Amino acid sequence: MTELLSTNTAGLRERYLSSLSQIALYNKTGIVLQNTGLVIEVNCPGLFLAQLCEILPSRPGADSILCQVIGFKEQRTLVMPYKKAAGITYGCCVRALDSFVSAPAGLSYIGRIVDAFGVALDDGSAIKPDAYMPIYREPINPLNRKTIDEILNTGVKALDAALTLGKGQRIGLFAGSGLGKSTLLAAMCQQRQDKKQVNIIALVGERGREVQEFVQETLGPNGMQNSVVVAATAEQPPLIRAQAVYTAVAMAEYFSEQGIEVLLVVDSMTRFAMALREVGLAAGEPPTMRGYTASVLSAIPSVVERCGNFAGRAAITGIFSVLTEGEENSDPVAETLKAILDGHIMLSQVLAQREHYPAIDISRSVSRLFGRLASQEQKQAVKTLRNTLVSFEENRTLLEMGMADNAGTQKLRKNYLASCLFLQQSHQEHFSLSDSLQQLITLSKGCLDD
Ligand SMILES: Nc1ncnc2c1ncn2[C@@H]1O[C@H](COP(=O)(O)OP(=O)(O)OP(=O)(O)O)[C@@H](O)[C@H]1O
Ligand SMILES: [Mg+2]
Repeated sequence: MTELLSTNTAGLRERYLSSLSQIALYNKTGIVLQNTGLVIEVNCPGLFLAQLCEILPSRPGADSILCQVIGFKEQRTLVMPYKKAAGITYGCCVRALDSFVSAPAGLSYIGRIVDAFGVALDDGSAIKPDAYMPIYREPINPLNRKTIDEILNTGVKALDAALTLGKGQRIGLFAGSGLGKSTLLAAMCQQRQDKKQVNIIALVGERGREVQEFVQETLGPNGMQNSVVVAATAEQPPLIRAQAVYTAVAMAEYFSEQGIEVLLVVDSMTRFAMALREVGLAAGEPPTMRGYTASVLSAIPSVVERCGNFAGRAAITGIFSVLTEGEENSDPVAETLKAILDGHIMLSQVLAQREHYPAIDISRSVSRLFGRLASQEQKQAVKTLRNTLVSFEENRTLLEMGMADNAGTQKLRKNYLASCLFLQQSHQEHFSLSDSLQQLITLSKGCLDD
């Protein structure tokens, strides 16, 4: 009995001491010294990087302004507010908060549109989170990743047949503006109607009107059923735009831990990088190519690497749209992403101009898992398809001018038109994997038979 009592007392003492060590023994407070554009300089020793703090505006009754520590300069702390810094003057009180930003998550978020902090933007009821997830995480042990061997059925023929994707793959969608990125992403989300699947869609830096259009028209009620949309529009402060992506990733991790497969869509990664660029430059980081700071280029892999096929939880497939405007080779965001992704889908302006939708340029797109996921027969058929597209493009001018008109070129033209027909589909259409593969095999047999 005495022994039991002493064991219990020792456990209690341990817990007491551990709790005591976590209690802040004094409030970290300070004052506002200066406001330089986006950044407020405060004198509040003890604040650490990425910590939250609040500034109490001088106006009586005004709400405190939530800020995040983004850097330090000559013994001053640089903080950036999450909303318009109205009512802040020299000498306003700054108070440290005990936490990093976390993201609320839960099953009740499915079907809802929320802001970067998980607060409902739609006219539904307030959402009660089941958990709060950390928005920053330590890198995942590479040995906890599993090989990707299950096919992701996107419902889009061109992708499923020619660029087969896997569950847990990380893919970039590279295109200029207005070529059909959002429409293609929405089509992929609409395909997923299983209760064990969810789409988390981060809309970053869009115009307010575009968010509404995307949800109501492009994604539609069908696609919304199994989705959570996290939106931060262009006019919001850069910290909030970046936060929308971190919240989406953290929510994706929550669902993955619940055994629910996630399709994480970030539209667009370029706007996420631009938001972080504003933060980095305001914190005094030196700019590199196109003004992007080093912290931006390291934040991109930290988001991408949180997607994958993991041991002990469901896969997170990541699709990241990138705005290229035809200059992807000199764009550091596009370059950084291409190096770390497992595939890229390129949309072509020429195809979009011809109303060939989805405007996927098959010959410039790659799925690095195609070799593992496709059957031998499918690989042969895709080879035939790619050869037809490339041969026609190489000789397009001659063929369109009616020169070199012979049986060979007539066959090439016929095969090319059949291939284009196969690769097109309206955004309301969805194909099963077996249908897409069957059509591809039939097409390739037709090309070889003639
Ligand atoms: N599969 C499709 N079928 C028919 N039309 C399409 C399809 N995909 C895209 N479009 C057309 O392209 C237009 C632009 O599409 P979307 O908004 O998806 O492009 P985006 O690349 O996301 O544009 P932004 O750069 O402005 O975000 C649509 O309004 C539609 O007319
Ligand atoms: Mg779009």
